[in-house]
Amino acid sequence: MLPNDETLFDKVVNLSKRRGFVFQSAEIYGGFRSTYDYGPLGVLLLRNVKEQWWRSMVQLRHDVVGLDASILSPPAVWQASGHLANFSDPMVDCRECGARHRQDKLDDPNACPSCGKSGSLTEAREFNLMFKTHAGPMVESAAEVYLRPETAQGMFVNFANVLNTSRKKPPFGIAQIGKSFRNEITPGNFVFRTREFEQMEMEFFVPPEDSDEWYRYWCGARMDWYLDLGMPEDRLRLREHDADELSHYSTGTSDVEFAFPWGWDELEGIANRTDFDLKRHAESSGTKLEYHDPASGERYVPHVIEPAAGATRTAMAFLMAAYDEEEVNDDVRTVLRLDHRLAPYKVAVLPLSKKPELIEPSNEVLGLLQPHWMCDYDQTQAIGRRYRRQDEIGTPYCVTIDFDTLEDRAVTVRDRDSMTQERVPIDGLVDHMAGRLPA
Ligand code: GAP
Repeated sequence: MLPNDETLFDKVVNLSKRRGFVFQSAEIYGGFRSTYDYGPLGVLLLRNVKEQWWRSMVQLRHDVVGLDASILSPPAVWQASGHLANFSDPMVDCRECGARHRQDKLDDPNACPSCGKSGSLTEAREFNLMFKTHAGPMVESAAEVYLRPETAQGMFVNFANVLNTSRKKPPFGIAQIGKSFRNEITPGNFVFRTREFEQMEMEFFVPPEDSDEWYRYWCGARMDWYLDLGMPEDRLRLREHDADELSHYSTGTSDVEFAFPWGWDELEGIANRTDFDLKRHAESSGTKLEYHDPASGERYVPHVIEPAAGATRTAMAFLMAAYDEEEVNDDVRTVLRLDHRLAPYKVAVLPLSKKPELIEPSNEVLGLLQPHWMCDYDQTQAIGRRYRRQDEIGTPYCVTIDFDTLEDRAVTVRDRDSMTQERVPIDGLVDHMAGRLPA
């Protein structure tokens, strides 16, 4: 049973706060709008999303290497990339209520969505989304620097460094996960659009004549990644941009979109960026950014296929896709049906009671499991309520230590989805779980 779309959003936001996935940043000071902190469960979910991306994009491939470039960078980078001139959104203000909006997101471009007043909006003006700060001790003399609005440019700027040190040749990619910052005019929808967020981007450098083939390949590969991690097929789609939506440097872009409660919206963009970025940085820096094939003597500037995903946005989409409610014994059970690889905790260890004779074997079981998987431990409240608490945060297995354990050295393993239980000897528990959980 799925709650209807309007309630799903509220339920997931509520669960996120209540169970420690996501907190409003600086909440005790009234909250800092549009920034969020990831709590004990959120940090695990986010790490798992990023780890799965890294595994599929880097670990399981021979043609992609990693990078961790700096967040602060000089204006020259953003001048060359075009961000200083073009990375802006059209902003309008309401003369009636003072609200500020992104013009391209308004349903009715003549009316203010905050107060409803018609004809109250100003002319649109372009607002650059980059955050600027100063490097050095004195603001007046210090150099202006920017917080990166995307991780991508760090990979273009390091193209020659990576090429010269990694012994890779096109087709090859550079992958990076990290924070990006955008001074969004209208952040919102919880962590969907924030001013500080995490991206997972890969720049794949290819011979120009192969770029279309690689573009199609990455569109397919990226869709498969979401589906393999449990995104339902009917809530995911690949939408190819029309010609009038394309950036001036792109010959093809497709968005992976998820059916959010407010409608289809973007999780990731896959773009054929041609040779635009490398050429711009080569011109601006005076450094050759090309590939020289020693066998054929050929020199060329590779074209780039870029799958660019949002880690924080994707983690939220996985939460929404996993949220489920079902009726069990006249009660509603909330369960996060997260893929085991994404679940924050893989196993919860639950002594049936707080009696000291059960704590010792419980600690033994925890000690056996912890080296392999992230485990939770909970010894308070009735066991039924503790099962429900684990269901609600997506823990695939609960291991219960009861008074029979003292006799038979066996424990009860309960499955989150089917709620079935089986008795497993402690000595075989790690092998038993290893057959069911990711390594
Ligand atoms: N290098 C290309 C690039 O950055 P983008 O479509 O602007 O492309 C890629 O960003 C992804 O980053 C988006 O699909 C989205 O998932 C995520 N993203 C972008 N802006 C965001 C924001 N303000 N808050 C959260 N995620 C964002």
